[in-house]
Amino acid sequence: MSILSKHKILETNATLLLIFSFLVVTIGGIVQIVPLFYLENTIEEVEGMRPYSPLELAGRDIYIREGCYVCHSQMIRPMRDEVERYGHYSLAAESMYDHPFQWGSKRTGPDLARVGGRYSDDWHIDHLRNPKAVVPESIMPPYAFLEETLIDADHIEDLLRTHRIVGVPYTDEMIEQAAADFRAQADPDSDFDGLLERYPGAQVRNFDGQPGISEADAMIAYLQMLGTLVDFSTFTPDASR
Ligand code: HEC
Repeated sequence: MSILSKHKILETNATLLLIFSFLVVTIGGIVQIVPLFYLENTIEEVEGMRPYSPLELAGRDIYIREGCYVCHSQMIRPMRDEVERYGHYSLAAESMYDHPFQWGSKRTGPDLARVGGRYSDDWHIDHLRNPKAVVPESIMPPYAFLEETLIDADHIEDLLRTHRIVGVPYTDEMIEQAAADFRAQADPDSDFDGLLERYPGAQVRNFDGQPGISEADAMIAYLQMLGTLVDFSTFTPDASR
């Protein structure tokens, strides 16, 4: 009996065919899935990434609330036109503390993944107040109310705690100091050594130039840090991944 005629037994017996089909699919599944259990991490580690500081995190919340992601992406693809316009392509690690991620799927405005440091705080204030004042052909809506809305640190501890639940490694100390760090980052006269120790590279200043901490302070603190954490002069991609 040739092997092909043995196959006939399977083809003419529905139960046997089901059992053997199930076996084949199981083996295929195991081959695909099991190696994933042995990968500790699919994110290439890079130096400089840290969780958002409390003020930046508050700014990020406002960014999401206002739907900035509807017009702006935060992911630079490795294509030449993108890299020449926006800078180094985005790394997975750069959004590892983003819950939810802000990659976006539409660019009515430019990508913002590396907008940090590209403009002055004053430019951002003028632009948020009235985008047409700095870019006459802009179709971005004005967000002048951000600088008029003062925010306090009442819920900042909870915000950090919530992000810890979904995996951001905020320490107990970071959570305890959240309100103090929140205020210190917007006040260059404060004692912000602890803030810098907990969040290396955090930028400390009065972002909107006005008294009190406004939503614009938080938003600009967030915008000005985007894409600034990883030092690309020391980064070499790991080709084995
Ligand atoms: C309706 C679409 C739209 C929305 C919503 C929107 N923007 Fe924009 N944005 C644009 C467009 C178009 C530009 C380019 C023209 C300009 O600079 O104003 C732009 C430019 C920018 C720039 C300058 C980027 C660069 O590299 O020049 C920043 C920063 C920015 N937007 C931030 C924001 C923030 C923060 C929000 C949410 C509060 C937001 N945008 C919401 C459309 C939008």
